[in-house]
Amino acid sequence: MNLPTEVRYRPYTDWTDGEKTKIKENVGKSPWRASYHIEPETGLLNDPNGFSYFNGKFQLFYQSWPFGAAHGLKQWVHTESEDLVHFTETGVKLLPDHENDSHGAYSGSAYQIGDKLFIFYTGNVRDENWIRDPRQIGAWMDKNYKIKKIDKVLIKKPTDVTEHFRDPQIFDYKGQFYAIIGAQNHNKQGFIKFYKAVDNDVENWVEVGDLDFGGTGSEYMIECPNIVFVDGKPVLLYCPQGLDKAELDYNNIYPNTYKIFQDFDPEKAALVGGTPIINLDYGFEAYATQGFNTPDGRALIVSWIGLPDVDYPTDKYDYQGAMSLVKELSIKDGKLYQYPVEAITSLRTRQEDFSEKTATTNTYELELNFQANTQTELVLFADQEGNGLSLTVDTAKGKVILDRSKAGEQYATDFGTSRECTLDAGQAATANIFVDNSIVEIFFNKGEKVFTSRVFPSAEQTGIKVASGNVSGHYFDLKSVSYTHLTL
Ligand code: FRU
Repeated sequence: MNLPTEVRYRPYTDWTDGEKTKIKENVGKSPWRASYHIEPETGLLNDPNGFSYFNGKFQLFYQSWPFGAAHGLKQWVHTESEDLVHFTETGVKLLPDHENDSHGAYSGSAYQIGDKLFIFYTGNVRDENWIRDPRQIGAWMDKNYKIKKIDKVLIKKPTDVTEHFRDPQIFDYKGQFYAIIGAQNHNKQGFIKFYKAVDNDVENWVEVGDLDFGGTGSEYMIECPNIVFVDGKPVLLYCPQGLDKAELDYNNIYPNTYKIFQDFDPEKAALVGGTPIINLDYGFEAYATQGFNTPDGRALIVSWIGLPDVDYPTDKYDYQGAMSLVKELSIKDGKLYQYPVEAITSLRTRQEDFSEKTATTNTYELELNFQANTQTELVLFADQEGNGLSLTVDTAKGKVILDRSKAGEQYATDFGTSRECTLDAGQAATANIFVDNSIVEIFFNKGEKVFTSRVFPSAEQTGIKVASGNVSGHYFDLKSVSYTHLTL
């Protein structure tokens, strides 16, 4: 939603209780609130931030502007979790309250060091002419979740980058801390800067060079780069804005992509032996995915179910955006798989054999089997006429199409109303489909291909229909996670 700059950058303390109550009441009118995904209490949620393990719990923050469905003065909102399915908002925030983050506490990462959590993020600073000075800055969070900002700028903008320099990710490789940061050069090409903590002191960084990951620079900016190690292989997850479609076919305004590498050579600032660039997700929205390696070596990711520069049907209710389920990464036969963590099955309540339904709660999981060489069209959020979110699975051709043109309120239609991907032709396939009121996450073959999307059904769209073909499997009702908000 377009709001004037004065509104979006109005100091948090200027918003009155009356105004906040009105915003909350408006959010309460939405028919589309999620039941087991994190959504903002009010306002806009975007990138996952500071995803980490600390104090015996998983920590996950998210970017937020709490006063409406727009990108305004950003803060981080803190949540914690023991099982990566139930998250609790703690009331802790990383506020834009310092001269180094005066125009927003932008995205970043976190890592436990000693008995504290080190938070590494971008301070968005603008001068009186609205010229931006991105500062890579830090903070320490103690075990009582008290945050203390480090006053000095940890990494200043180098001369070979424009004002687009943000989203530091700290990671540990063989006991040494490194960081990567998304950047744009003066030819308006995206690239990634690579840094090393001097003597492993995370308050003291030195540039090693530009990360060599086989990038072409056909994008104009790289946002939210992350390196995670999956079954011993380095995987780079990143968001190349404006990437040339000749390099990778994608339909969303901006893609979220990855490459798998054979090796990492920090001395040379190089990721070695990479695959071509691949779409991380084939749905209508998954962006700013953040990953980290847990102390026991697993690679976990979580995505923003939303996209920059897109208006959503929820905007009129003064909120926008959701977090995806937490997904675990693995590599099988050289392919990256992403699948919700095992604890997601704890949300299953009643189970039955899959069949058509006229009315569901729109909060369920389907576990489906598609036989080899068949074509099936399934309609989720189906109304009496059979209109809804259409999923066609052709296992003969090895093609999947997700079409939301008849599913409720339409938006972002300039980018098309269907999405597709391939599967191995002539092979049977499975799909686990998580439906949560206005969110769908579809995992083919336990995470070989993933579609993450919003859909904003009309009140009558509560059914499941098999429009053609044949499919078997299970239906599970999923219970709510009872997520409590403390943001405003
Ligand atoms: C990605 C992004 C980041 C930035 C943040 C600001 O969605 O643009 O690059 O740090 O959002 O909210």
